[in-house]
Amino acid sequence: MALYTETVMDHFMNPRNVGSIENADGIGEVGNAKCGDIMKIYLKIEDNIIKDIKFETFGCGSAIASSSMATEMIKGKTIEEALAVTNKQVVDALGGLPVHKLHCSVLAEEAVKSAIKDYYDKNGIEYDKSLFPEDMGCEGCHMV
Ligand code: FES
Repeated sequence: MALYTETVMDHFMNPRNVGSIENADGIGEVGNAKCGDIMKIYLKIEDNIIKDIKFETFGCGSAIASSSMATEMIKGKTIEEALAVTNKQVVDALGGLPVHKLHCSVLAEEAVKSAIKDYYDKNGIEYDKSLFPEDMGCEGCHMV
């Protein structure tokens, strides 16, 4: 069996929502402690809806495919729905990732959360701090 699914290869070769958003309402940047790769997410939010989302990932193919899939899954959703998307759901939507690449998908979930937190902070919106652990690390990964 091929190491990567067709969906992973498609999102790696033709990533959706790549780039940045000028005057973004929320920006999140996270690094993967395991490999040093970095991901940045930009959000445009209107009436509690993620109107637009873009990403820049300086990382491996799995991180790029995960970022691309995560942005597709989150676009048009409410903030609460976006917060509920887990890296496991992203991996499932990709048709799976090799076990040693699962950690790459955590980057997308963390970056989305970090961008939403930035939006809340910028707008003085109250939120449940437990939704945004400082460093999600391994506990934040829903694959384990
Ligand atoms: Fe770094 Fe995949 S190896 S995110």
